[in-house]
Amino acid sequence: MSAPKQPILPIKGKRNILITSALPYVNNVPHLGNIIGCVLSADVFARFCRLRDYNTLFICGTDEYGTATETKAIAEGLEPKQICDKYHAIHKEVYDWFNISFDYFGRTSTEKQTEVTQEIFWACHKNGFITQKDEEQWYCESCDSFLADRFVEGTCPDCGYTDARGDQCDECGHPLHAHQLKDPRCKYRKDCGKTPQLRTSTHLYLCLDKLQPEMQAYFAQAVEKGVWSANAQDITQSWFDRGLEPRAITRDLKWGTPVPLEGFTDKVFYVWFDATIGYISITANYTDEWQQWWRNPDDVQLYQFMAKDNVLFHSIIFPSSLIGTRETWTKVNHLSATEYLNYEDRQFSKSRGVGVFGNNAQESGIPADVYRFYLLYIRPETADTHFDWADLIAKHNNELLNNLGNFVHRALTFSAKFFDSKMTQVVLTDEDKESIAAINEEVGQQAKALRDLRVANASEEDCAPAETKLAELKEQLASLKLKIEEEEKAEGDN
Ligand code: 2FM
Ligand code: ZN
Repeated sequence: MSAPKQPILPIKGKRNILITSALPYVNNVPHLGNIIGCVLSADVFARFCRLRDYNTLFICGTDEYGTATETKAIAEGLEPKQICDKYHAIHKEVYDWFNISFDYFGRTSTEKQTEVTQEIFWACHKNGFITQKDEEQWYCESCDSFLADRFVEGTCPDCGYTDARGDQCDECGHPLHAHQLKDPRCKYRKDCGKTPQLRTSTHLYLCLDKLQPEMQAYFAQAVEKGVWSANAQDITQSWFDRGLEPRAITRDLKWGTPVPLEGFTDKVFYVWFDATIGYISITANYTDEWQQWWRNPDDVQLYQFMAKDNVLFHSIIFPSSLIGTRETWTKVNHLSATEYLNYEDRQFSKSRGVGVFGNNAQESGIPADVYRFYLLYIRPETADTHFDWADLIAKHNNELLNNLGNFVHRALTFSAKFFDSKMTQVVLTDEDKESIAAINEEVGQQAKALRDLRVANASEEDCAPAETKLAELKEQLASLKLKIEEEEKAEGDN
């Protein structure tokens, strides 16, 4: 997406709302779970803010670095850059189809990303928040690559299962470190299967332990002043309770943001260290004035939308790396995390092809608005929910068609039939005024739900009183129609 000539910038004295939705991994076509988990939820909130005339910037883009992209490139016989170009375009097309109103949809594999990430890293380094540690890692000579835990399989040291993955044994459920596996085999390329060697590699760590007191103080005031979903608060608090430890921020990979420190220049930053920095670099690709958004905590409120597995990176690691610079940054003020959306009775799975993917939705012949409506209706706001075709049909027929569709249709035909589709001056009766006040009350409730980031509630639960109101209005409409018909008849008779 090319940056506009007149970018949206914060305006002093106005409500300046910066909205991000989690940057989707570039290596796959997004499915409906991804859509409701981040981009659609953020989209609804962005539309609400614009309707309220808040000065709003909604940013997103593809998360392009890391192992997943490297392996996808191997699988498709392309270079990582080519994979990113190909799938970035697919993502963009899918979100355009779903009418997601990004102000800018960028990507993370850019020069700005390198510039901003390295700047943040150097500042943390200068301030003593970076340390080093040796790690033992499997290395496959045949693939010429260090292997991330999930690319090693072998025998579980606990139960003897021979196909245990490097991060977990699926048979006995024990979490593992890859170097504990017996008879390890490389799974980096599908057909490799060679025995990897253990090698020592030195990595850089962000000292989250040193930053914990400041982080906790920041978190406490952010939760007090802002809106944080319960799961986001719980997940963050549980990390603090366990005690933060230094966290590795580098990897032995090629496709990533280069580490600028002498002795580490053959490594890249771990994708989860720089992915969140992607929000900043994407804004920097949108406007040279990006600092007005990102170094302006007094005038900007930052709202971040994501699924719950992303919380740690947004509520602890990203703000820690910004605090570690000892510079002024806009940090997350409000955080909305969804639970998971399942597909029928299973989990959405990219690898097993279970679920409805962006391209399936487009080819289904069902309009994007129907998916948007249903996904918002079942948004997993406080518990996991599931996408169910029979339920989609029922909700569509009952809510969208019967209630909303009929109401709009009746109002329009009524206005066409009796008022020539023109708005005329109406003298309001006391009864009309009461109805309008009641409707405004409902609108106020909906707006409150949205301000509290209860996106699903705004479309569903709080509709219960609105539905009653709708039924009353329908009745009033019908009796008004009857009255007019009677008057017309009486006039005709005269
Ligand atoms: O879980 C995911 O899809 C990650 N790509 C989200 C990254 S969000 C942010 F860090 F950029
Ligand atoms: Zn190999």
